[in-house]
Amino acid sequence: MTTFRLPRRSSSGRFILRACIVLAVTVLFFLVARVSPSSRVTRLVSHNDNTDNFYYRDNTIYVDPFIGTSGPGHVFPGATLPFGIAKPGPDMTGNDNQAGYNPSGIIRGFSQLHSDGNPSYGNIQVQPLAGEEWEIWDYASLRIEGSQVASPGYFAIGLDRFNVTVEMTAAHKTSVFRYDFHNASKVAVMINVGRDLMESFMGGMINLDRDKRENTRITGYGTYRPSFAPTGAFKVFFCTDFNLKPSSAALFDDQLHNETETTLTGGWGGLGALVQFDTMTLEEPLISRVGISFVSEAQACASAEDEVPAFDFDLTHMAAKKTWEDTLGKIRVDGGTEDDKVLFYSSLYRHFISPVNKTGENPKWESSEPYYDDFYCLWDTYHGVMPLYAMTHSQPLAEMVRGLIDIYRNEGYMPDCYMGMGPGYSQGGSNAEMPLTDFLVKHGANYGGVSWEDGFQAMMKDATVEPMYQGWTVHGRTDIEFYSENGYAPAPEDSTYDAPQRSARSASRTIEYSRNDFAIALAAHQLGNTSVYKEYLARANNWINLWNPDVEEDGFSGFIMPRYQNGSWDLYPPQFCGPTLNHFSCFLDSRGGEFYEESSWIYSFSAPQDQIKLIELMGGPEQYVKRLDHYFDKGYHDMGDEPAFLIPYLYNWAGRIDKTTDIIRTLLRTHFSTNSSGLPGNDDSGAEGSFVVWSMMGFYPVSGTDVYLLSSPLFTETSLLIGPNQVFTIVANNLTDTNRYIQKATLNGQPFDRSWFRHSEIAGESGARLELEMGAEWTGYGVKKLPPAITGDVSWVQ
Ligand SMILES: *[C@@H]1O[C@H](CO)[C@@H](O)[C@H](O)[C@H]1NC(C)=O
Ligand SMILES: *[C@@H]1O[C@H](CO)[C@@H](O)[C@H](O)[C@H]1NC(C)=O
Ligand SMILES: *[C@@H]1O[C@H](CO)[C@@H](O)[C@H](O)[C@H]1NC(C)=O
Ligand SMILES: *[C@@H]1O[C@H](CO)[C@@H](O)[C@H](O)[C@H]1NC(C)=O
Ligand SMILES: *[C@@H]1O[C@H](CO)[C@@H](O)[C@H](O)[C@H]1NC(C)=O
Ligand SMILES: *[C@@H]1O[C@H](CO)[C@@H](O)[C@H](O)[C@H]1NC(C)=O
Ligand SMILES: *[C@@H]1O[C@H](CO)[C@@H](O)[C@H](O)[C@H]1NC(C)=O
Ligand SMILES: *[C@@H]1O[C@H](CO)[C@@H](O)[C@H](O)[C@H]1NC(C)=O
Repeated sequence: MTTFRLPRRSSSGRFILRACIVLAVTVLFFLVARVSPSSRVTRLVSHNDNTDNFYYRDNTIYVDPFIGTSGPGHVFPGATLPFGIAKPGPDMTGNDNQAGYNPSGIIRGFSQLHSDGNPSYGNIQVQPLAGEEWEIWDYASLRIEGSQVASPGYFAIGLDRFNVTVEMTAAHKTSVFRYDFHNASKVAVMINVGRDLMESFMGGMINLDRDKRENTRITGYGTYRPSFAPTGAFKVFFCTDFNLKPSSAALFDDQLHNETETTLTGGWGGLGALVQFDTMTLEEPLISRVGISFVSEAQACASAEDEVPAFDFDLTHMAAKKTWEDTLGKIRVDGGTEDDKVLFYSSLYRHFISPVNKTGENPKWESSEPYYDDFYCLWDTYHGVMPLYAMTHSQPLAEMVRGLIDIYRNEGYMPDCYMGMGPGYSQGGSNAEMPLTDFLVKHGANYGGVSWEDGFQAMMKDATVEPMYQGWTVHGRTDIEFYSENGYAPAPEDSTYDAPQRSARSASRTIEYSRNDFAIALAAHQLGNTSVYKEYLARANNWINLWNPDVEEDGFSGFIMPRYQNGSWDLYPPQFCGPTLNHFSCFLDSRGGEFYEESSWIYSFSAPQDQIKLIELMGGPEQYVKRLDHYFDKGYHDMGDEPAFLIPYLYNWAGRIDKTTDIIRTLLRTHFSTNSSGLPGNDDSGAEGSFVVWSMMGFYPVSGTDVYLLSSPLFTETSLLIGPNQVFTIVANNLTDTNRYIQKATLNGQPFDRSWFRHSEIAGESGARLELEMGAEWTGYGVKKLPPAITGDVSWVQ
């Protein structure tokens, strides 16, 4: 999780209207599904089948965009397309309003750009006004209690102060608003460039063209700062038109300029336009359209005219919904409760809010390569979100990978975090290595038009060239020279547990660097570079250099500990930085010392590249299992933070898939729900959602490798459309909550007895079918042929 603001719980909202709609639609869906025998679509067995059938289901009905909008989730519930630029939604006051919405806040306006989990953006505000009781600096409104409604591509809410209902939908670069003024006679729409969610406005311009389209056009731009970066600024250009003719329009800065001005520039005190309408003459609902560009006003206008030519709100909404049906239709589940499906598809939905496809909107360099922004951050999303794309959205992922490589070509390094068109703070390693390798080992070097010559160079640069230090670096790996020579990042000389000098994170960075090196090794292997493969496979063991066998807690010995340059230890209590001890002193904005956001209990489990070695260091499989049990029992696990996501699956390396099965079910039920405070931590662009999606499907990726670890599905049948004619289906026969353990299995009809599988095993030309027989007791499934490890019998590479 990555935020300057500490999570704070606020009272949870209730969304009765929304619930009623979901219920009504769901009931309708089942009525329809019942009478149509063809709706029970059977599994696609061969590539001759028409995969169009796969899309027959509308999974958008299960999406509740309000899940995680209360408390620490920071979820964006507004309207957007998958990877869309335009994200209209309300900006509300209060803590935990990172994505604009806050169930207990006051609405300050509706802005056009947002990000799930990230307080950047909230730019180009629009606010409808009615009556006389407002000023250009005072127009915030309470919502009408219970008036909020949201579904993929749609958001609506009522403003109590003005008795106005505002609906919004989105095309790729254009927001569309429809207003219901409830018979008020004098109404207006305000456009405010000078206010943004972060209050980072640095200046801008606004133009009023009264003749354009007969209905007044307002264009302009604002310059703002990104939220998670030491430097940088980005310009947002916009173009607003209305479907109806206004009665008057005027610009404002710190005061209203009536009738004469056509251009204003400004830095402080507001900058905007006020467009008034006489409702007595309105023959249809008022609609406004806001085109967005990062290049020019002309491009913002051209996009708006192209995407929403006739101001048709319903058509734009239907198109958005259809796009979401296709996106969410790629995974189909059967079985489970209605609530399970709502949790599943809402979590899946949030995978596609960001990153954002800004191809054609890059103001920084000319390129024919794709440009994606708002990776917030790869540190968060590499675990589950990026591997999910590698499964069902490999085309967009190929574009993202090309975009990351193009950032390296033009800015010198791939980013770890990127938003507002610039790199943000690195929190650990250079984690672009993870999705690049994940994609490469699953799809090969010839898929998607990626230049692996440059891609490999970009990774090697991370691993070899010291980045410029800016307090916190924004790319590459700090201390890479020392690390390359000595095998660990050193703790600062003047830092101790009692008096950390700064959050140097040397222990957690070492863990991540060695995992990034492992990714480079696998990429080198895939690309046929044997010398780099060997060298980096050795570097992947560097985490062992921080293994201190003498540190002991709760009867368990051996922990990752920081070391100074001279090799001596900088000892920390193993719980420090975890949920049980000084958790929030280890975040970006505090002096946490050597472990970033989580404790040594977590980081000591965090070398998936060699769990067999770790088991040996921890005293054997039994002791390792005991230690995992203890870790969960004592609350050392943090379901709200990404470094912990893989740990529940580690039991598989000790041959105990039954324990994985149990803990996953417990974690899902304890930490996630379908209410508005149903997330345990910042969603960070779908990261929390990704833990839910994979875990409910019954397996989890070891990111940066081609391996998945099995647990046990929550659905009797899950099918993923992984290529044009490739469907991977998992069937769990006799699954109930009690019958949760795999007894035996077949993969494509052949006996299968492992607790893991490779991507190539399920991505054959016609997909694959994994059939599991479930039972009430674990009878030893998965004890043999443990998952790959650097040490041990099963190699990562084939
Ligand atoms: C808001 O508008 C609705 C519909 O015209 C009306 O029934 C209601 O009384 C209005 N509420 C207020 C507070 O004016
Ligand atoms: C709005 O005004 C029209 C015409 O005066 C009237 O027919 C209609 O019932 C009113 N609607 C509401 C919701 O008050
Ligand atoms: C500008 O002035 C006219 C005449 O005084 C008035 O009718 C109109 O509402 C004003 N426009 C704005 C945007 O304040
Ligand atoms: C990203 O945007 C570009 C330019 O509009 C488009 O060609 C491409 O298809 C988009 N990618 C996806 C995955 O939608
Ligand atoms: C190593 O460096 C640390 C930190 O500067 C210092 O406290 C310690 O005494 C040194 N140990 C040795 C053996 O020189
Ligand atoms: C392997 O990669 C390294 C680093 O980019 C390069 O120097 C070397 O020439 C490559 N070797 C082969 C056989 O391609
Ligand atoms: C919402 O879900 C969370 C997480 O499962 C739970 O702790 C909380 O009690 C739930 N709140 C309500 C109002 O149901
Ligand atoms: C699963 O159920 C079927 C029929 O419902 C039964 O024949 C079979 O024995 C069951 N298998 C297991 C492993 O319980």
